[in-house]
Amino acid sequence: MKDLLNKLKNGIEKFEGSTEESIEKFRVDYVGKKSKINKLFEDFKKLSVDEKKKYGKPINDLKTLAKERLISLSQKSKKKTATRSNKIDFTLPPQEDTIGALHPLRIVRNKIIKIFRDIGFSIEEGPEIEKDWYNFTALNFPKNHPAREMQDTFFISKDPDMVLRTHTSNVQIRLMEKEKPPMRVIIPGRVYRNETVSAKSHCFFHQVEGLYVDKDVSFKDLKDTLYYFAREMFGEKTKVRFRPSYFPFTEPSAEMDISWKNGWLEILGSGLVDPNVLKNCNIDPNEYSGFAFGMGIERIAMLKYGIEDLRLFSENDKRFLKQFRGVH
Ligand code: PHE
Repeated sequence: MKDLLNKLKNGIEKFEGSTEESIEKFRVDYVGKKSKINKLFEDFKKLSVDEKKKYGKPINDLKTLAKERLISLSQKSKKKTATRSNKIDFTLPPQEDTIGALHPLRIVRNKIIKIFRDIGFSIEEGPEIEKDWYNFTALNFPKNHPAREMQDTFFISKDPDMVLRTHTSNVQIRLMEKEKPPMRVIIPGRVYRNETVSAKSHCFFHQVEGLYVDKDVSFKDLKDTLYYFAREMFGEKTKVRFRPSYFPFTEPSAEMDISWKNGWLEILGSGLVDPNVLKNCNIDPNEYSGFAFGMGIERIAMLKYGIEDLRLFSENDKRFLKQFRGVH
């Protein structure tokens, strides 16, 4: 027994090794369940009382020694790997600057949101896959309106009709069904139309919808609000022009142009909420009135930043995107 103890003690003290494998071998040999030391404890049970008295302490000491040695071995090896990975190779070429940029559509979206938030509008969102009711019927679209045709709209299913929403106006209905006036919201989101992709049109783009319903909301409120928006977005000197237009869900309806270089450019559609639409949402048109508007985010971004091809927004070309670094 004595010899065996001495031999093991020697083995533990003399053990050298810093690789993971050799430390693992040490653990198996001296500390693990099947180690030589555990075996000693088995043998110990068979000894006589006298011998037990003699060898009890040395065996326990040996066990402690092995454990401590294992800890110090593995600490040493960790330190080694740490210093190795901390070493910096100054001869390597520098890494490319990887700070990203906000997407121009996100920059413009944020600007629009801020402008309207400052005058008390809150932000809402709604689904992109929509029931016919919210995208068309409740918005007063007649049965044979061209927007309901397959050529213009992506249908997810027929009977019941589900579509990829063609505008953010669907959320007008969702909100008016749910809440009572007064309400003052803007609704940013993605919309889809079955158009050929080109520099000027795309099968998806982004809109911001606005809706204001309260007692005595008039066309003057609509004009004031949108004039304020145009000056905040495009500068103090911007002029606006309203042209009569048609949307099934507003009456009267108007398109708004802003003064741009030497002419006028259309930037949004708008109008007073049609009484039928209010009725569809159980809001009494004799008590309440409202205005709504919808603008394309791409269009505004193209104007602001002089972008001439709509496809650039979704191509993920870093050369395009990195020009917006630091803009917000
Ligand atoms: N939804 C219309 C469109 O996509 C825009 C609009 C919104 C017009 C709200 C009037 C009122 O063209």
